[in-house]
Amino acid sequence: MLKQYAHRLSEIQPFKVMELLARANELQAKGRPIIHMEVGEPDFPTPGPILASGKLALERGLTKYTPAEGLPALRELLSKHYQRQYGVVVDPARIFVTCGGSGALLLATALTLNHGEGLLMSDPGYPCNRHFLKSFGAEGQLVPVSAEVGFQLNLDLVKQYWKSNTRGVLLASPANPTGAIIQPDVLEAIINFVSKKQGHMIVDEIYHGLHYGDASVCTALEYSDEVIVINSFSKYFGMTGWRLGWMVVPESAIPLLEKLAQNLFICAPSIAQYAALSAFEPEAIAEMEVNRKKFKIRRDYLLVELRRLGFSIPVVLEGAFYIYATLPKGFESAEIFCSRMLEEFNVAITPGTDFGYFYADNTVRFSYAQSLDKLKQGVANLDRGLIHARQ
Ligand SMILES: Cc1ncc(COP(=O)(O)O)c(C=O)c1O
Repeated sequence: MLKQYAHRLSEIQPFKVMELLARANELQAKGRPIIHMEVGEPDFPTPGPILASGKLALERGLTKYTPAEGLPALRELLSKHYQRQYGVVVDPARIFVTCGGSGALLLATALTLNHGEGLLMSDPGYPCNRHFLKSFGAEGQLVPVSAEVGFQLNLDLVKQYWKSNTRGVLLASPANPTGAIIQPDVLEAIINFVSKKQGHMIVDEIYHGLHYGDASVCTALEYSDEVIVINSFSKYFGMTGWRLGWMVVPESAIPLLEKLAQNLFICAPSIAQYAALSAFEPEAIAEMEVNRKKFKIRRDYLLVELRRLGFSIPVVLEGAFYIYATLPKGFESAEIFCSRMLEEFNVAITPGTDFGYFYADNTVRFSYAQSLDKLKQGVANLDRGLIHARQ
């Protein structure tokens, strides 16, 4: 008998970059010197003080469930972080520690949307978002964003795409795959509009800390206590595998989120939470700041080299660790291009089709979460690949 699974799964596409990574690893296991420019994960180790606290937690047997909302001491620390970093007062009661930013996004979806409702989100954008929504019978309402609008939503676009079943806006800044940072006044205008509509404003700030321009990056919490902010220890703090994130919610959502978090996850991993108690220590921050400077050097290098190879990068992107580029002239399909570069030239990059539909098969995402030496090798491989493909 052919088993039936949930119909909604037919509408959920795989996260292609993970499949690409699996294929790249398979080739690597066969001895191929693959350069990974596909992964969205820092190559740096988790900072020393965090590792030390994680080890201590293990030795002390701190391996039991924690409160569903997270360790009180960690929520306190996160509240202080908002005060110190952005000058914003956030009651720790509004902070929920989650299983990564992913856990927070899932909880935010469950919290805000009914079946058949939707959230506006940018195309290109983080692909899992629309699949989180699908899992709850809701829909990601994609809004094409081009280089002309800095690859971010703005008030006009939000007004233009708002439909009768739209319940709010979900945006990320800095964004994946583009690294684009939203301007503070644009963010504020969207927040005010969504508030007038009595909708939900969800802002994914998971790449905060990883920005390379002069301007400081604001949190949506500077403009309203009614927004939902998603964040994570994965990227700036280099803790991808620890699976730890957090979210800040409006006061009215606290009791609802408590019961949701209890039911869906019980709690975030205890060892990771104890480890993260050291994430804001000066020595840990110092390590992360060194890493940030390295990211900037890599970005600057890659920008010049990719343009030299013929990739078009219309805006210099100031955050995360990605460069979103249009294929050089003469190449029509990003999927074919990426597959060829991996299979024949040992360099893994992600096709734009992983992130939406808007000019997607004409674009690729490069991750510079790799050492400069590896990036240089990757560029050399690409150079050879392009010459070969043009012959
Ligand atoms: C924009 C964005 N949000 C959320 C996530 C989820 O990250 P994590 O669950 O590791 O915190 C990612 C991961 O790449 C991302 O790029």
